Amino acid sequence: MGDSYPEGVYIVGLGQVPVGEHWQRSLRDLAVDAMHAAMADAGVNDVDALLVGNMLAPTLSEQQHLGALVADWSGFRGVEGATIEAACASGGMALRQGFIAVRSGIHRMVVVLGVEKMTDSVNGCTAAGLAMAADGDYEAAVGLSFVAINALLMRRYMHEHGATREDFAAFAANAHRNAAGNPCAMFPRPIDVDTYLNAPIIADPINLMDSSPVADGAAALVLVDAQTATRLGKKAVRISGSAVGTDSLSLHERRSLLELDGVCLSARRALGMAGKRPDEVDFVELHDAFTIMAVLSLEASGFAEYGEGFRLGRAGEVSRAGRIPICTMGGLKARGHPVGATGVYQAVEAALQLRGEAGDCQLAGAKVGMTQNIGGSGATVVTHILEAV
Ligand code: COA
Repeated sequence: MGDSYPEGVYIVGLGQVPVGEHWQRSLRDLAVDAMHAAMADAGVNDVDALLVGNMLAPTLSEQQHLGALVADWSGFRGVEGATIEAACASGGMALRQGFIAVRSGIHRMVVVLGVEKMTDSVNGCTAAGLAMAADGDYEAAVGLSFVAINALLMRRYMHEHGATREDFAAFAANAHRNAAGNPCAMFPRPIDVDTYLNAPIIADPINLMDSSPVADGAAALVLVDAQTATRLGKKAVRISGSAVGTDSLSLHERRSLLELDGVCLSARRALGMAGKRPDEVDFVELHDAFTIMAVLSLEASGFAEYGEGFRLGRAGEVSRAGRIPICTMGGLKARGHPVGATGVYQAVEAALQLRGEAGDCQLAGAKVGMTQNIGGSGATVVTHILEAV
């Protein structure tokens, strides 16, 4: 290409492995596959640093130290490497740290990787590992699992705002419908309202169709500065906004149970950095770990008034043809939620949309996308704004 890119941070390489149960592949195999795919996509064979988003390897795989491990096994022994942990927002936080590293001028080319291996352990261990994202003294110690925490939020929301099960069904159905076109989705099959209404209850009122699955997966991005993006001449996506907001880990310490301040801060900061209003965002890859999280995130990010977000599902506003499409390739619910990798999958999917390479999931004319990755029930929230260039 002849033109040079303006100053900034660019995504020039994308890699992902299908989300699912990878019993034949180890944590490091998945990581290396995604990393090599992203570097091949970018057309590069060197890297300044590797940042690995992961939450559960220390508990479920008895393995820490993933930065050096993956650098070594991917053929890049010697490069700078580190693991980034922020519960289910680990992948998004790795992207945030990669953005800072390139934006500061310290590195010109960084691989951001998210990897998680959850299905090799029995479910009790997985649930206990996930509960570490909650407040250990005040929530996990009394047996509150992550599903139960979200069930409390959903029950309260239904009570305060009159939302019904059918309202939440529309969010699950949207995710599954969108996943049908994604070759990397764990559940690429549509569901109808009856499937939702008849699904087994996990923690009342949350049922199987409100909930994201336990999954394995890995995804990777190559981030570069403007000069390198220009030299490579690849179709690049610009990161125009990047921000983190935090809140208390425990629900009972929050200003409001249903207004997620961490989401509000994170979205407002990222949009402000990009110079965008919510109505200038074409689609959102949001953190629908549970259908209630999709609703609360839409409200706190400014896409709906508080107490009104539940209406967007049945009104069709969040579908790919709607006003604010969400989870355009299946989201956490149907693409799957390999927790520490999820934030990187979201960015890969948003970049595919902006490159016009989302296949059967492609949105028409998408220019500005938001990704939002949440750790815990809203304690760490990482938002990025990505733009086609
Ligand atoms: N959505 C749709 N179908 C699902 C599903 C989901 N979330 N999870 C599992 N299934 C399907 C499986 O494919 C399987 O179908 P099959 O019988 O046709 O093969 C069936 O349901 C049972 O699967 P299984 O793996 O035995 O489910 P499980 O009962 O062990 O686990 C949950 C189901 C919902 C309890 C588990 O996925 C879970 O704990 N999810 C939440 C994870 C979480 O908290 N993540 C962090 C969020 S911040």
